[in-house]
Amino acid sequence: MTDALEFDRRHIWHPYTSMTDPLPTYHVVSADGVRIRLADGRELVDGMASWWSVIHGYNHPQLNAAIEHQLKRTAHVMFGGLTHEPAIELARALIDITPEPLQHVFFCDSGSVSVEVAIKMAIQFWGAQARPEKHRLLTIRGGYHGDTFGAMSVCDPDTGMHERFRPMLPAHIFVDRPRTRPGNPLHPADAEQIERALAQHHMQIAAVILEPIVQGAGGMWFYAPEYLSLVHALCRRYDVLLILDEIATGFGRTGRMFACEHAGVEPDIMCLGKAMTGGYLSLAATLTSTRIAEGISADGGVLMHGPTFMANPLACAVARQSIELLRVDTWQARVTAIESQLREELGQYDGHRAVADVRTLGAIGVVQTHDAVPVAALQKMFVEAGVWIRPFNDLIYLMPPLVIDSDDLHRLTTVIGRALDTL
Ligand SMILES: Cc1ncc(COP(=O)(O)O)c(C=O)c1O
Repeated sequence: MTDALEFDRRHIWHPYTSMTDPLPTYHVVSADGVRIRLADGRELVDGMASWWSVIHGYNHPQLNAAIEHQLKRTAHVMFGGLTHEPAIELARALIDITPEPLQHVFFCDSGSVSVEVAIKMAIQFWGAQARPEKHRLLTIRGGYHGDTFGAMSVCDPDTGMHERFRPMLPAHIFVDRPRTRPGNPLHPADAEQIERALAQHHMQIAAVILEPIVQGAGGMWFYAPEYLSLVHALCRRYDVLLILDEIATGFGRTGRMFACEHAGVEPDIMCLGKAMTGGYLSLAATLTSTRIAEGISADGGVLMHGPTFMANPLACAVARQSIELLRVDTWQARVTAIESQLREELGQYDGHRAVADVRTLGAIGVVQTHDAVPVAALQKMFVEAGVWIRPFNDLIYLMPPLVIDSDDLHRLTTVIGRALDTL
């Protein structure tokens, strides 16, 4: 085990780490339900759902069976000129559960790529309308949309982890992130900024892109649905498309199947990923309306994207089954229970000397500290306490599998309290 970890340390990059001075990693041998088992025999209660994705828990019998069933037929086949039942059935299910105007699906291999595709769709649409000058994007600060170049260009320019690439990125238009929290009346400054930006630049703007209600990796911030409704109305008024990135929020995490439902808003383009496969395989999708799809396709136009592993059958099969589980499952009740437990138990830390803010929404709980936390030291402490929580910057947060029970959730929130006392 030590050899393996040493090899890993010397040769394998982990996310956002140095090759010469990486943060420590822990060796996983298996995972089941909400428990991750380490090579040294320790078991950790998972508070992260492997970055929003493992909503039904690990090693789920029905998800395993869906992959095994498909594996006996074909693991992969190119999507150029060929199609298959897993892709067709998944597309049917996605069209069924997403807002009604979204009728056309592009499958790709990761969330970042689905954002690239969304951006291409918007730009190609306006190009096909003889409006090529409409190629810029408008977004809100504090966003995170992925690590590829198009996606990086709409991440927060300062906190979006991509500052060093700024000179190479197209200059899009940013407004401040909405300060209005859910449950509060819309702050006039939030409305004024976005309205002014659209009034001024709409002739060059192809689309507004944002994460609905919950901004994830850009700062774990929640904002009022009324803001999203306003953005939607402004997009209509100024003839600008609306792209909603539901990659983190989709599939129940916020208490609705999709976060846009909190505002009753229907986007022109929607990006999905992460929990779409129940966290089993990398698969993402970009959905769009008939207006946009037909616009792009006018006069022989084609959508300029086509990854090798597009619509991978194993990934489509497990995604289809994951959606089926959501259909028959009582996930809303479980998210409501997780939400109230998080509110109560993390709420106790409001007022702690190390804590700047506590916020909860759906199955997401965030404790923001005054200063950046020592990630490696806290991670070690969490592992020793039998939980898997990975903080970043000044954020210690939970987004557990939606199947977590209240005892395990209590364990996670209790250990966070102990960690705060060490700060
Ligand atoms: C909102 C959002 N968009 C896009 C992405 C990028 O997805 P991926 O890591 O699958 O490329 C992420 C990943 O964290 C995300 O949270």
